[in-house]
Amino acid sequence: MIKYLGSKRRLVPVLRAMVERSGARRALDLFTGTTRVAQAFKAAGAEVTAVDRTRCAEVLAQTYVATDAGTVDRTALERALAELDALQGVPGYVTDTFCVRSRFFQPHNGARIDAIRQAIDERYRDDPLHPVLLTSLIEAADRVDSTTGLQMAYVKAWAPRSFARMTLRPPVLLAGPGHAVRADACAVAGDLGPFDFAYLDPPYNQHRYESNYHIWETLVAWDAPEHYGVACKRVDLRDPERSPFNRRATFAGALASVVKQVQARVLVLSYNDEAWVGPDELVDMCAVRGDVAVLGFPSDRYVGARIGVHDPRGRRVGTPGRLRNVELLVVAGDRAEVRRVVAPWRDQLVRPVSGSFRSVGTAVPGTGGAP
Ligand SMILES: C[S@@+](CC[C@H](N)C(=O)[O-])C[C@H]1O[C@@H](n2cnc3c(N)ncnc32)[C@H](O)[C@@H]1O
Repeated sequence: MIKYLGSKRRLVPVLRAMVERSGARRALDLFTGTTRVAQAFKAAGAEVTAVDRTRCAEVLAQTYVATDAGTVDRTALERALAELDALQGVPGYVTDTFCVRSRFFQPHNGARIDAIRQAIDERYRDDPLHPVLLTSLIEAADRVDSTTGLQMAYVKAWAPRSFARMTLRPPVLLAGPGHAVRADACAVAGDLGPFDFAYLDPPYNQHRYESNYHIWETLVAWDAPEHYGVACKRVDLRDPERSPFNRRATFAGALASVVKQVQARVLVLSYNDEAWVGPDELVDMCAVRGDVAVLGFPSDRYVGARIGVHDPRGRRVGTPGRLRNVELLVVAGDRAEVRRVVAPWRDQLVRPVSGSFRSVGTAVPGTGGAP
């Protein structure tokens, strides 16, 4: 799984158990990112629709959600990966842009990324294995990058992992049908269903994912774009157009709109106590769907918050932020169903279906959080 800001690693077992408790046969992951949550829903037996606006998330969803492992020719996949992995490096756009002009990968890996990416298009363009091979390449490149987890900058001295030879591995595919959709959630939320269970995990701040992970966008598009700045971002990222979830002024309206539009019996919204809207407002938004309960899970923040912010030369230009926050799961739907879905996490209940908020762990939702 690639490094991804806001990835719900810790909450995946909880979300999977919720889907199982709801008996969901059709599930929606509306801001799917790494597809980690969508994969858990699929593993729980649901037919999943995974939606995101980035190119990278679409490829991951085509691989992990839309590809039925039962239909994949394992021998052909292993042969393809072995052939691609054995290719000699051929320096090209990635080497020049991300190894010479910037330092996201070591040149020996950059040249192999160039060769393998080109071969995937030349040999597998119309093959159902295309997204699977591309996912394998993105994940392999992620294992040898030289960042702290974001592609806004690279670290001053090569990260130890960047010296390793990049190696392709087969993605672990799941059996069963599923759907990958690249779209703006606001435009499609009402037209995707009906679902039994919907999970919403929107961005929390102004930083766009296509910018945070611009190298994956370019690797998928494979369009050798003009670039700008020390991080060599795609020029189209200069376009001020951004997701309504990345603007404070439009965030609440966009979220309220998708919460209202999604067709699902149970809706679960992920959020944290550093959000642009407070927990009371989230509960009000979700009340259009019936009763609302809120669970709180104290959690470690992104590693960058712990080590402080650095510029591309490795100089510290910021100070470490808070180390912990509280991840909230807002659960909405019919009262009996909400109670059934949240029942195993009584200790994490910070707001029961009828009642007010109480403090949780090291932080109190709505107060600005942990000391
Ligand atoms: C917090 S991340 C989701 C992380 C995901 N749950 C995981 O575990 O990997 C938010 C995601 O929302 C996507 N996104 C942002 N604005 C969007 C929009 N308007 N429509 C659809 N997806 C959007 C981003 O590309 C990003 O992948």
